[in-house]
Amino acid sequence: MTKTLNLTLKVWRQKGPDSGGRLETYNAENISTDMSFLEMIDVINEELTITGKEPIAFDHDCREGICGMCGAVVSGRPHGPEKGTTLCQLHMRHFSDGDTIVIEPWRSRAFKIIKDLVVDRGALDKIIQAGGYVSVNTGGAPDSNAIPIPQDTAEKAMDAAACIGCGACVAACPNASAMLFTSAKISQLALLPQGRPEAARRAIAMVRIMDELGFGNCSNERECEAECPKEISIVNIARMNREFFKASFLSEVK
Ligand code: FES
Repeated sequence: MTKTLNLTLKVWRQKGPDSGGRLETYNAENISTDMSFLEMIDVINEELTITGKEPIAFDHDCREGICGMCGAVVSGRPHGPEKGTTLCQLHMRHFSDGDTIVIEPWRSRAFKIIKDLVVDRGALDKIIQAGGYVSVNTGGAPDSNAIPIPQDTAEKAMDAAACIGCGACVAACPNASAMLFTSAKISQLALLPQGRPEAARRAIAMVRIMDELGFGNCSNERECEAECPKEISIVNIARMNREFFKASFLSEVK
């Protein structure tokens, strides 16, 4: 049965990248437990707009857990309290009547706050860009399917490829490390024969730019794995480290 909730929201409001920000309090009344978290913010924004106030800026696109655009820290947890769930797929039934919910943007030196809950995650795009293209021409689907890949390896590659690049791993990590993200992107290609020709160059380039962009190091806190909406394993970080060290010993890689 659909129930309704009355909530107190404390939302980070910040006009722009160089302005100061602060938590502002809003009452969210008669929120249906069937609503998603973003739909709840939509309702608040409608009320703010009607009363001539600035709506809360937040990122979103697919609202299906696919694109990686949404994300905010909800009462201290990236994407909120549900495991393996993006903010757009988080439902209000996971909250209780009378709750106070604190909503903040991802916080990291590499992610500048653009406005309110919107941050610039362009640094993650730069890491992918540094990885470059795969040069192997596999031909059409029947040809590429003819390349024998053990089932277990294909599944590990697919699990790494499930990363949607939302940045929750960075937000969750006390060091603001992007190692889970970078390692997933390195692993999804390094595991497959089609990704091997550039594997060494790719690992060096992606790790190098990740460090340059100001992300922190991994100190095995495992917060990234715990908060990743796609439940990417930190096994990928160990694989990335192996790939990086192997590549560092190859003389042809500069
Ligand atoms: S809006 Fe696309 S993953 Fe949430």
